[in-house]
Amino acid sequence: MKPYREDNEVIIESLKGLKLPERIRIFDTTLRDGEQTPGVSLTPEEKVEIAVNLNNLGVDVIEAGFPISSRGEKEAIKRITSLNMDAEICALARTVKKDIDVAIDCDVDTIHTFIATSPLHRKYKLKMNKDEILRKAVEAVEYIKDHGITVEFSAEDATRTEISYLIEVYKVVEEAGADRINVPDTVGVMIPKAMEYLIRRIKEEVSLPISVHCHNDFGLAVANSLGAVEGGAQQVHCTVNGIGERAGNAALEEVVLSLKMIYGIETGIKTEKLTEVSQLISKLTGIKLQVNKAIVGENAFAHESGIHAHGVLTHALTYEPIPPEIVGQRRKIILGKHTGSHAIECKLRELGFKVGENITEEQFKEVIRRIKDIGDKGKRITDDDVMAIVEDITK
Ligand code: KIV
Ligand code: ZN
Repeated sequence: MKPYREDNEVIIESLKGLKLPERIRIFDTTLRDGEQTPGVSLTPEEKVEIAVNLNNLGVDVIEAGFPISSRGEKEAIKRITSLNMDAEICALARTVKKDIDVAIDCDVDTIHTFIATSPLHRKYKLKMNKDEILRKAVEAVEYIKDHGITVEFSAEDATRTEISYLIEVYKVVEEAGADRINVPDTVGVMIPKAMEYLIRRIKEEVSLPISVHCHNDFGLAVANSLGAVEGGAQQVHCTVNGIGERAGNAALEEVVLSLKMIYGIETGIKTEKLTEVSQLISKLTGIKLQVNKAIVGENAFAHESGIHAHGVLTHALTYEPIPPEIVGQRRKIILGKHTGSHAIECKLRELGFKVGENITEEQFKEVIRRIKDIGDKGKRITDDDVMAIVEDITK
């Protein structure tokens, strides 16, 4: 299926003049920031199972965890690195030698090291001045590079940091040998335009590949990640189902499908596996998915109203922006008080009844009437209910 960018006039016009990349790297942090979701704690076995599935899904980087946090965490990361997967395996470390040493011990491909840079974090959390932070960042990057390991450097709370200081931080870590920089919107305060602007400003001064890490406090994590891509970011941090600290992170499935279907930008993700992986994460973390969750939610491709059901049954694109099979879903026609005759006829056919053959027009009208009566009582109508109605009417 073609991306909308190619034939939607509004999108074509709005993106005119923008140089977009052909591919974006997906840095998955389900096992690190995702596991920081309040109440979630995965066993090493569960972490390994998730890592294997993320690798099969096609993510570029798996941030496997924060090894200094516990013995189990370190063991899980070691087990993941021992599997020699295609994905790059990464561990998180503060710019602190003991954190970095534990990460090195896990045999990871990449260490994601971070230190906060915003005035708030400098004053109240780190109690460090700007120069001390610059020094810590450089020391950490040099130490990791001395061990021959790839470094991704994050300025935590980047989006609440003075732009000139933030750029200075990224420039010194570039000189110290960092391989990539990451721009975290740690408390999700950005808007897409601001994110685009910030990435463009950093890109003017720093030559390293730029990654973004957007939190969802205002529900804008995905939009801000896309804004960052418009500004020139080459990698996006995401979590499956958008789980993570507080309101979570940018949802991987939403970022990937928006890039693919709206911008026409590829990732390495095998999108048809998305629903299965989403359900696995929901099962192992115990975090239930809202039914109207975009892309992977139970209702993402469900239709009840007569007008919509008739529309999709006539031409799918009328009320479905993408075919459900692309993301491992299937279309559902839900019966209820809003249902029209087309949807009910379609459901009857699924259940083996054809109007005019084994059910009369009169009986069909009665089925419609009874289904709507049940819907009016606020109930959801199952296939068993439809079978019971038909059997009663045709007996
Ligand atoms: O949100 C954040 O700032 C983080 C850092 C560790 C990158 O998760
Ligand atoms: Zn985060």
